[in-house]
Amino acid sequence: MAGNRTFTMIKPEAVAAGNAGKIIDAIIEGGFKIVALKLTQLTPERAGKFYEVHKERPFYQELVDYMSSGPIYAAVLEKDNAVADFRALIGATDPAEAAEGTIRKRFAKSKAENAVHGSDSDENATIESNFHFSADEIVG
Ligand code: CMP
Repeated sequence: MAGNRTFTMIKPEAVAAGNAGKIIDAIIEGGFKIVALKLTQLTPERAGKFYEVHKERPFYQELVDYMSSGPIYAAVLEKDNAVADFRALIGATDPAEAAEGTIRKRFAKSKAENAVHGSDSDENATIESNFHFSADEIVG
């Protein structure tokens, strides 16, 4: 999958606000093909494991509580240069710094409740996709 796949989650506040459909539309309009998609809810344990890399950061517990607070959509996306292109589509982590028209500029509430996750490398895209999906749940 190196190079042409990335992983995303539509986060609890965006799902609760009814923005998941608009975000999925923006992802498809952005040229990404959805090759896996599920509605799910992380337990605090699973959210903690997903974000283990941030364990020492001051916002870790807040992040775990938030990411397990309600349903999310998890998805695997396909496009040439998927990781970098998706990060451009979603914009900066902090919506105040995100470019006009990006998904976070349009839908994020704050740096913590920032609407969507996007993998930061091909390696993490694979790890994160495998965290949520088995091989037979990813098509193509
Ligand atoms: P995400 O791209 O999913 O990766 C790590 C997440 O941690 C990030 O989006 C934000 O939701 C959250 N995050 C990053 N920095 C902060 C911060 N300073 N305060 C609170 N949450 C943060």
